[in-house]
Parts: sequence; structure tokens; C-alpha cells
Amino acid sequence: MGGTPSHLMSNLTINMSISSQESNTFNQENKRCIGKVYLVGAGPGDPGLLTLKGKGLLECADVVVYDALVSPQILMMINPQAEKIDAGKRMGRHSLFQEETTKLLIELAQTQAIVVRLKGGDPFVFGRGGEEMEDLVRAGVPVEVVPGVTSGIAAPAYAGIPLTHRSYSSSVTFVTGHESAGKYRPAVNWSAIAHGSETIVVYMGIHNLSYITTELESAGLSPQTPIALVRWGTRPEQEELIGTLQTIVEQVEESGFTAPAIAVIGNVVNLHSILSRNYQ
Ligand SMILES: C[S@@+](CC[C@H](N)C(=O)[O-])C[C@H]1O[C@@H](n2cnc3c(N)ncnc32)[C@H](O)[C@@H]1O
Repeated sequence: MGGTPSHLMSNLTINMSISSQESNTFNQENKRCIGKVYLVGAGPGDPGLLTLKGKGLLECADVVVYDALVSPQILMMINPQAEKIDAGKRMGRHSLFQEETTKLLIELAQTQAIVVRLKGGDPFVFGRGGEEMEDLVRAGVPVEVVPGVTSGIAAPAYAGIPLTHRSYSSSVTFVTGHESAGKYRPAVNWSAIAHGSETIVVYMGIHNLSYITTELESAGLSPQTPIALVRWGTRPEQEELIGTLQTIVEQVEESGFTAPAIAVIGNVVNLHSILSRNYQ
């Protein structure tokens, strides 16, 4: 094992002893699990936003299976002796399919003590962490989730956009904009979303932006409703595009703005012009 910080050793020792108790567990193929899988949230990119628990696990991992949106600075924190496996999947480019990833994690838990499944943001927020954990639990593999800072909160924050504010918004909805492939069920009810809260945060919405803005306007939101897109939030290359529901699609086309980005819709976006100055 690599250089585990001393203040984390007791915690990891506890986890390891739990793992050995749990090693009596057999998976569906009747193979003994010697290890434990940790579903770790890497946060949105800024390494300072990784949790202490996540950092400690990266430093003593035997193997790390990571996604495409994990930042290079966080990958550099991984124990140099650990095996690193890229399971990254981006639209139209799958390194490993979901079933392959789950199968791999089950196999790794049969030979390695600390298996880290590293995901961008938070594993349970549009990260398929719930699905992966379910499969591992069903297979009898010891598994624990370590939450991360989700991009839907951090990217707006670094762009000077608070999701709630006493003068502008007392409610927030987090929603996926990527439903075209029919993978998410039930389909998003944009009319309900439009009226459900004062701030709307859309993940994976860039490819569907024209459809989303049209649906929200059809549901009654003003075409002048402010919207911000934050690309590569919290990273040095962070970019923002500010507009309205009426203008944003054209702005994206003109500027060549691309994913990955978070969209924030609502009057809180107007605070960007005041609060983003703190990051300049
Ligand atoms: C599959 S989802 C994963 C979300 C992740 N689990 C989270 O909690 O942030 C991928 C989407 O998250 C958003 N995203 C992830 N990292 C981002 C970042 N640094 N800046 C802006 N958006 C980001 C984008 O909308 C991207 O298309």
C-alpha cells in the first residue's frame, strides 16, 4: 500500500477489518471476495474539492477504475503502485460498457483489497453509482459509497451563481437533459420541471438545449428567463456563457460552446455579474 496519511490510517484499518469479516461473503459465482469496492466521488475537477476520505482511499488503493470526467490532477493522487483502469465513457465513445465495468469490479474484488471506483462529481448524482452499487450488492461484494461534490452545485458556485438566494430562489431542481437515448425512465416532464422550482440545474443538457428551452418556454417560462452554461466548471479552463432561454441556442452555435457543461436556469443567474468578479 502507498503513503496513507496517518490521520486516515485508523479509519482505513477499520474498513479493512470490516472487509476481512465480510470476506466470508461469496458472490454469485461462489468466488470469495477478499476486497471491498469504494465508489468514490472525485468532485468536478478542482483537486481541492476532493474529500479527505476520497483522497485517503486513492492513496492506498490497490486498483482504481476511473471515469472520463475525472480530472488529471486527481488521477495524479492515486497510489503510484496501484493499477489504473480507464472505464471512461463519453457520448459515442464507450471505453467499457456498464456491464463490463461491473463485471470487472466484481473480479477485482476477488484479488485486490482496496478497489476504488472513481467517478466524476458525486457517484449517486447522474453517475450510475446507484446502479453499480446495486449490482455489487447483489453479487455479494462488500461496497461503500464516498460522496463527492457534484458539478451541478460546484460549477455554478465557481461561476458566481448561488442556487438559492433569499431574494431570488428558495427551491432547486436537478435534472438530466440527456434522455434522447431513452436510458432514463421515466422521461423528463419539462412542463412539471418548469413550474416545480425557481432554479433549474440541467446536467448533460448541451446536446438537447434547443429541445429543453423550447419545452420550458412552451410550459410558460418567459423567453427572457436567464440561463448560464458553465463548461469544465472548477477547472482552470472553466468557461461561461450567459443568455436567456430565447438567445442561448444561437449563442452556443455562434461560439462553438460544447459539453461537458451545467446549465442553470432562473433569476439567480443574474447574480453572476456581481459575484463572478471574486474569481477574476
Ligand atoms: C454523467 S454526468 C455525471 C455527473 C456527476 N456524477 C456529478 O455529480 O457531477 C456528466 C455531466 O455532468 C456535468 N459535469 C460533470 N463535470 C462537470 C464540470 N466540471 N463542469 C461542468 N459540468 C460538469 C456535465 O453536464 C456532464 O455532461
